[in-house]
Amino acid sequence: MLTRRALITRSGAAGAGVVFLWTSPAEAESEAAKPILARTKNIPVGGGKIIKGKYVITQPKKGVFRCFSAICTHQGCAVASVSHNRINCPCHGSRFSASTGKVINGPAKRPLTRKQIKVAKGVIRLA
Ligand code: FES
Repeated sequence: MLTRRALITRSGAAGAGVVFLWTSPAEAESEAAKPILARTKNIPVGGGKIIKGKYVITQPKKGVFRCFSAICTHQGCAVASVSHNRINCPCHGSRFSASTGKVINGPAKRPLTRKQIKVAKGVIRLA
């Protein structure tokens, strides 16, 4: 049987452990270290934004955001625009779905590589 003092001591130690897990500075730093790719307000519905020639972020439906590699799977050009829910490569005309990254028009045969993102408080970051 636990004494009141033993219970307080044990729960105090457990409580400290829980507080540590939820507020670990290392965890907070890793979240903060991921750079902001874009703000949701800057990604139009049906459109998107190319980020530093490396990522393309789209909003195929209101409130749904996707991120893909901006490197075309045909010959490696950076895609240049997103319109009407299509991601467009300027080099040879390939078009990809802004929702899935799948090829709509070749010559590319493989989809754009999808990147996992986190969307919170109007900010989009890599997951
Ligand atoms: S590199 Fe994109 S279509 Fe050729």
